[in-house]
Amino acid sequence: MGGLLATRQSSRRVWFGLLAFLALFSFLVASRSSEAILQENPHLTNDDLAINRTLGFSKIFAIGLPERTDKRDAFALTSALTGFHVEFMDGVRGESIPDQAVPPGVDRKALMETNLGSWRGHMNAIRRIVEEDLESALIIEDDMDWDVRLKTQLKEVAKGARHFMPPGKTSSSPYGDSWDVLWLGHCGEVFPEQLPENEGKPEHPKYTILNDQTLPPPGKLTGLVDFASHPAFTRWVHVSGGPICSFAYALSQSGARKVLFDLSIDHLGGAFDNALAAFCRDGASGNLDGLRAKCLSVTPPVFFHHRAKGRLSSDSDIQGFTNTDVREKGTTENIMWSARNNLRNMMLGLEMESQF
Ligand SMILES: *[C@@H]1O[C@H](CO)[C@@H](O)[C@H](O)[C@H]1NC(C)=O
Repeated sequence: MGGLLATRQSSRRVWFGLLAFLALFSFLVASRSSEAILQENPHLTNDDLAINRTLGFSKIFAIGLPERTDKRDAFALTSALTGFHVEFMDGVRGESIPDQAVPPGVDRKALMETNLGSWRGHMNAIRRIVEEDLESALIIEDDMDWDVRLKTQLKEVAKGARHFMPPGKTSSSPYGDSWDVLWLGHCGEVFPEQLPENEGKPEHPKYTILNDQTLPPPGKLTGLVDFASHPAFTRWVHVSGGPICSFAYALSQSGARKVLFDLSIDHLGGAFDNALAAFCRDGASGNLDGLRAKCLSVTPPVFFHHRAKGRLSSDSDIQGFTNTDVREKGTTENIMWSARNNLRNMMLGLEMESQF
């Protein structure tokens, strides 16, 4: 009996010891310089630390209209539970933009006030990158979702993006420095060799992530690539063809400067996402006089628009829905362990629920 008690007490001591170690370890990881952490923990690599509280970028800006507190509440909790921190930036209503501030080339009526406002919201974030001379920033729309394993995915994406650097070159960014735009979240994207203007030209290089167990089965993927003609569970980091939707994209300092010039000061050729895609597409085919945009995309994407439970009319501020239907459960295309749908599970330490 006494022996049993002693065993219990000592196993309790082991648990306390383990917990104290874990607490100390997370404290160290959060507060020490990366060199010190790596020296003390030989099993960790630079990659493990790179995807930090700002996902390896200098900052993260989440854009959305400030009155959509529903989206900010959900975003703040979801990002906190998956280990990153964003700065919210207020989206802009088109009506608040005077005619004098509209870029050359815009027919305001054809573009529509909602698209004009959306463009300005993105532009304000992009200007911050230039003004504050940030090395990079991730710009993300405030209704995004991602997999619970986002940081694991981004470690692979970072390897892929570094793959495009000239051999021997180093960079302080975990993603390297050979891109202007790193397009992480989109509605669909083609490989550049699928574009008519690149017919007959050599293929652009791709970084292939095989056997990515965070990907849904091929039949469940949406997008523009013919996923069925490639091995299942493959993700690519590749030169952008012309992505649709500006869900989430990182800009380097050089990228922010080029986009501020090309999509505001020089002209604006359409809705923001189309204009950014055209900027990238021109870069892929070498048409952009001198600026030569260098854009990389991740396909299938790691961020995707979440359709929240509740009124369908809450989905978008751009589309001006009048639908009165209600969605019982939130959904997100292409994301397997939806962080949004697993909030409760993450907080309670329960098993993750897959969407597929
Ligand atoms: C995360 O890493 C990036 C790139 O090294 C760095 O610029 C950024 O300041 C880091 N973020 C935090 C919160 O330490």
